[in-house]
Amino acid sequence: MKKIALNIKNLNKIYKNNIFALKNISLKVLYGDFFALLGPNGAGKSTTIGIISSLIKKTCGKIKIFDIDIDKNHSKAKYYLGYVAQEYNLNQFETVENILFTQAGYYGFSKKCSKERIYKLLKDLNLFKQREMIVRKLSGGMKRRLMIARSLVHNPKMLILDEPTAGLDIELRKTLWDYMYNLNKNEKKTIILTTHYLEEAESLCRNVAIINKGIIIKNTTMQSLLKKIDETTFFLETKHPLQKIPNIKGVKIKKKDSYKCKISLKKGTKLNEIFKIFDKTKIEIVSLRNKSNRLEKMFVNLIEKHKT
Ligand SMILES: Nc1ncnc2c1ncn2[C@@H]1O[C@H](COP(=O)(O)OP(=O)(O)OP(=O)(O)O)[C@@H](O)[C@H]1O
Ligand SMILES: [Mg+2]
Repeated sequence: MKKIALNIKNLNKIYKNNIFALKNISLKVLYGDFFALLGPNGAGKSTTIGIISSLIKKTCGKIKIFDIDIDKNHSKAKYYLGYVAQEYNLNQFETVENILFTQAGYYGFSKKCSKERIYKLLKDLNLFKQREMIVRKLSGGMKRRLMIARSLVHNPKMLILDEPTAGLDIELRKTLWDYMYNLNKNEKKTIILTTHYLEEAESLCRNVAIINKGIIIKNTTMQSLLKKIDETTFFLETKHPLQKIPNIKGVKIKKKDSYKCKISLKKGTKLNEIFKIFDKTKIEIVSLRNKSNRLEKMFVNLIEKHKT
């Protein structure tokens, strides 16, 4: 039987202003899973993640991280966890590398013994050149990457990311997808993320929970969720001219001009396939737009169904 990395039982949260943000949530995430927590704005995603990371106090319920009850051994549970917040929460006046050394210090690592790991993280996340810059001078994408590096300094077994790619361009989003994919695949980290991009959950996640108004309305595999979505259409813009349109099973590609095309995916076809083929043919994608917001549509359908 697969071990459970995160076990949430009957979790409730009522904020001081009487907002009932989480209503008896129960959820299990398996060891080594890549898990998506999806839901419309205000559904309770950040509240759930905040409670797991001990930044928000729960009203009641139980949470175990790798079998450690967060109420009983808070520091051990915390050690297993890396957390990337939805909002930027970096000291604006500290340098990039100092942010990471300070974090290492919180976990009891000296500068000397954490240097190698920190430099590797800076290189892997493409921040090495900026290591002496102060945070205030970084771009949004750099700050996001720094927050990810910071969450990994103590080499946690589980990583929780709250909208890690919000507001980033497609190229950086794809770079971070690759990075997260490798953390899960090669370093066997259990990863949980929230996102408003269905493509992100679709490319990375194996299992998914959908939350609405503080209630889990669906908890299933990504594959079975995608089966419920009919053919979907995207508009894609490329950096390199589209000379030969690649042939991909389950995908219809209609060229609009040399750099633009319309792509229709049949039910069950993964967007990942398109990325792979375009990568192979060295055609760089600069933007990807949904004809209609698939995630919004799916939320509306699920919420309707849940009411009946
Ligand atoms: N500190 C707080 N005090 C009072 N109410 C709060 C607080 N934080 C969140 N809420 C409320 O709790 C509910 C859930 O908010 P939460 O931030 O968890 O949603 P979310 O799913 O992360 O939304 P988004 O997709 O917009 O980030 C909302 O109604 C929100 O207004
Ligand atoms: Mg949120």
